[in-house]
Amino acid sequence: MDEPGCDGVRLVNTYRDFDRVNSAVSGWRGLYTRHVRPVLREVGSGATILDVGCGGGDVLRRLARWASQDGLNPCFVGTDPDHRAIEYARREPGPANLRFLCATAGELATAGERFDIVLSNHVLHHLSDGEVAALCADSTTLATHLAIHADICRHPLAHAGFPLIGGWFRDSFILEDGLLSIRRAFTPEELRRLAPEGWQIRTAFPFRLNLLWNA
Ligand SMILES: C[S@@+](CC[C@H](N)C(=O)[O-])C[C@H]1O[C@@H](n2cnc3c(N)ncnc32)[C@H](O)[C@@H]1O
Repeated sequence: MDEPGCDGVRLVNTYRDFDRVNSAVSGWRGLYTRHVRPVLREVGSGATILDVGCGGGDVLRRLARWASQDGLNPCFVGTDPDHRAIEYARREPGPANLRFLCATAGELATAGERFDIVLSNHVLHHLSDGEVAALCADSTTLATHLAIHADICRHPLAHAGFPLIGGWFRDSFILEDGLLSIRRAFTPEELRRLAPEGWQIRTAFPFRLNLLWNA
């Protein structure tokens, strides 16, 4: 899906399917209740959340729904350097407090943008070691309270088991890109070596690897 000339129909189907894959395996409900919601309650009205590498925007849509159920109404911004992701995300129905930008975290940090919470899902494994360090630096510039970068943990059992989920998604890149993503993902030890001071590594079921920073 990262190829500029990849099949457009399969790409759109992949953004659509991220929603179901993420709701099955990404663990954002736990991250929301444990880390995101307490910050939203502390900041109160006007809280802001940035999702870096938001793809089709499904993680922010889910967070917006949970926040709304909790009586919270933060502003959500999804950003992705791939204009095809942003075009898809903007076409999907969403609440008024959610918008999408085609930009990198570095560009937003340089422009002086600030958010209470900066997060990403399934972006770390797209990055080189140097880019992970740069994303951490941009995150601590951008975030006033909390940053969470959630990803897959590389493990042979994750690779062996993923076809049980990915095989359900026809005519999208979910299966092949999912397997490639697992092969590219970090182990906890690798991410611990890369994480700048002040960042914590947390693992979670199933094969999740989360990089967290609190101001
Ligand atoms: C596997 S998709 C995940 C999309 C979305 N976060 C989700 O979980 O559904 C990875 C996304 O990261 C984006 N991406 C790749 N390199 C990036 C970078 N250096 N900074 C920010 N986003 C990046 C891609 O364009 C793509 O939309």
